[in-house]
Amino acid sequence: MTANEIREAFKSFFREQGHLIVPSAPMVVKDDPTLMFTNAGMNQFKDVILGNAEPKSRRQSDSQKCLRVSGKHNDLEEVGHDTYHHTMFEMLGNWSFGDYFKKEAITYAYEFLVGRLGIDPRNLYVTVFEGYAADGLARDDEAAGYWEQYFPQEHIINGNRHDNFWEMGDTGPCGPCSEIHIDIRPDEEKAKVSGASLVNKDHPQIIEIWNLVFMQYERRADGSLVPLPNKVIDTGMGFERLCAVMQGKRSNYDTDVFQPSMRKIG
Ligand code: GLY
Repeated sequence: MTANEIREAFKSFFREQGHLIVPSAPMVVKDDPTLMFTNAGMNQFKDVILGNAEPKSRRQSDSQKCLRVSGKHNDLEEVGHDTYHHTMFEMLGNWSFGDYFKKEAITYAYEFLVGRLGIDPRNLYVTVFEGYAADGLARDDEAAGYWEQYFPQEHIINGNRHDNFWEMGDTGPCGPCSEIHIDIRPDEEKAKVSGASLVNKDHPQIIEIWNLVFMQYERRADGSLVPLPNKVIDTGMGFERLCAVMQGKRSNYDTDVFQPSMRKIG
């Protein structure tokens, strides 16, 4: 599949699940002093998530242009050193504003990757928030229970607050998350070392492709967590990473997202 076909497949899938497909918001954020550049698909929905505005639809989906070069989500030090980080990238996302929650978000993610794109589930690993006592948060057993419908225990991995509690910035909407990682190593390497032991270990062929955030709180400036008026699903999938997986490439830069421009410049 070409990159354009992959993006369209994502939008079609979520349109079929009743989502309104919306355009990418501008990358320069004009009306939020806590953020300079759009760093995630959810930024344009911040006021909706906090309950200060009504959504156009309770289900929305898009491909958002993001820039992660500063602030809480800063990839600048990784760019140029590995095959899967970028300054600017596209994030495929689906949102539920007080409509569906964990069960459906997990089902949709599995159905899209495995059912629609044909990715082998034996190459997928999912992570679950292990809890964080200082914030009074327990392990996300609910998400783990839904993943168990699709994966054996050894493919469901506990993750810490750094990897599995997503926050937009120092303040703002946040919540536990489940990441989906893919193992694209050759079979002989998979036989020697389990993929589970390499998740979140900076291995270039075992990478996160999709993050499902279960937004339940607002982080206030004093560090406290206040429940949101509605539970929100906020997902973000690395479009260029998905293209590399689908096109059988080891590097995002070898996909048709980058190659035509690189050839022309060359
Ligand atoms: N908002 C979800 C993510 O950026 O991973």
